Amino acid sequence: MTAVAPKSMDEIMALCKRRGFVYPASEIYGGINGFWDYGPLGAQLKKNLRDAWWQDVVMNPCWGRSGPDGNPVEIVPVDTCIIQNPRVWEASGHVGGFNDPMIDCRETKARYRADHVRAIAGTGKRDQAPVFAFIKDSPAEAKQRKAADKKFGDEQEEFDLIELGTDFSRVLGPDAKELGTLTPPRAFNLMFKTYIGATAGEDDIAYLRPETAQGMFVQFKNVIDTTRVGVPFGIAQTGKAFRNEVTPRNFTFRSREFEQMEIEFFCHPDQANDWYAFWRDWRMEWWKSLGLAGENLILREHDRDELAHYAKDGAGTSDVEYRFPFTAPGYGELEGIAHRTDFDLRQHAEHSGLGDRLKYFDSTRGETAPNGQPKGEKYFPHVIEPSAGLDRGVLAALCEAFTPDPERPSGVFMKFHPRLSPIKAAVFPLVKKDGMPEKAHALTTALRKKFGHLGVIETDEKQSIGKRYARMDEAGCPFCFTIDSDTLADDTVTVRHRDTLAQERVAMDAVPAFLGEKLGV
Ligand code: GAP
Repeated sequence: MTAVAPKSMDEIMALCKRRGFVYPASEIYGGINGFWDYGPLGAQLKKNLRDAWWQDVVMNPCWGRSGPDGNPVEIVPVDTCIIQNPRVWEASGHVGGFNDPMIDCRETKARYRADHVRAIAGTGKRDQAPVFAFIKDSPAEAKQRKAADKKFGDEQEEFDLIELGTDFSRVLGPDAKELGTLTPPRAFNLMFKTYIGATAGEDDIAYLRPETAQGMFVQFKNVIDTTRVGVPFGIAQTGKAFRNEVTPRNFTFRSREFEQMEIEFFCHPDQANDWYAFWRDWRMEWWKSLGLAGENLILREHDRDELAHYAKDGAGTSDVEYRFPFTAPGYGELEGIAHRTDFDLRQHAEHSGLGDRLKYFDSTRGETAPNGQPKGEKYFPHVIEPSAGLDRGVLAALCEAFTPDPERPSGVFMKFHPRLSPIKAAVFPLVKKDGMPEKAHALTTALRKKFGHLGVIETDEKQSIGKRYARMDEAGCPFCFTIDSDTLADDTVTVRHRDTLAQERVAMDAVPAFLGEKLGV
């Protein structure tokens, strides 16, 4: 058996560029840090993941499964603006509190998130120099630990640097040579500012949304008033979000412009725990269904001290996490499932002045009236929020699919789940003569008619068949259909299976049914 080489992020990024999955944004101008563009294959891959989410969340919620109340899950979509009234962000807490305190190093110009910096001092000697600071799992960690071992031996203690307060004069920064080069933590607001209208004064400030979620809270009342949905139900949308991340990194993982797929699921406070567990478990199953299975995917319940302010009183927060090559052996967040309680609706009720008018009137609850019907109950629903990153999902799909295979001419193939493959099938004439291109054209047209809404049906006459197969391996195309001299005699084609390299012959008119079965449609 061939040994499987470990996955390398550099190789994955090189393939993404070479095959047109992901390009650096504005590359001909030297790029722009934290921004990425998708090429032809990447744009289709991203669309396929977004479509899968839309289909399974909005069109056929949770695959038709009943919720904890025994009824079908109900979700309606919206599409809200990237720019909202700035008061939305005051109410949500983003204007005041969407800050990551950062520590700068005056010597190396490196910048660290304050809550990521660890420190080692002599036992009971935090107030004495030196204190060695480092970022966990960074190259500096080993260097600083070695220095601490040499200085303190077994008499050492480790803690979060911010426990020292703001005076870091006795601290040796993670990458510094001199003591005392770290600045006190400073807050950076992560929202991108812009101006509305021509005057561009302080009164015209607006923000690019840092999450799609608030658009759904703000439209909660309109959705209730204009549709037939009632609590429990969800509002869902996908769309761009923008965060002026201080340290964008790890390819598209932490970008400044990215896309989210979010659900705000409204339920009665008494049912929140059950709906939280329901969504947490189904979201994990959903990611698994797209091929992110096995040891690379975990569901992690947050510790209490990690919870966001709005989740502290709730049932909790869980993350679906994927083991990316750059986080291994650790994991990175793909999606957070949070019980946000009634925090957001209450905030908007207060800041908009709507007050109790933003409450939901539930005619199915309350005391029983003399006529035997419930009197109804007014309340702020609680919210369970499954919030997924589309770009992170695409990145996980790319990392999972990347499969080195030295036996193939391409040396690697992309083993996408068929639902995600940007190219669903390729049709190749073996040579460019003897009527083969015409037959290939006819088959391509038939397959595009039937499957074109799901992804690309590729056709290509140039280069040797081996090179064309190699290109499809790198693009992750699951099936290639080749028209050869036998096709001219008996109207059969060769099917090449991407994952096994097996080849078989199928009647040309049976190809649409064959592909439909393999794609599960
Ligand atoms: N409404 C809740 C919310 O926005 P979040 O955990 O900040 O929660 C949700 O973001 C998801 O958005 C994350 O799980 C991640 O997949 C994605 N995400 C957040 N920041 C990102 C960034 N800078 N780049 C790419 N994806 C990001």
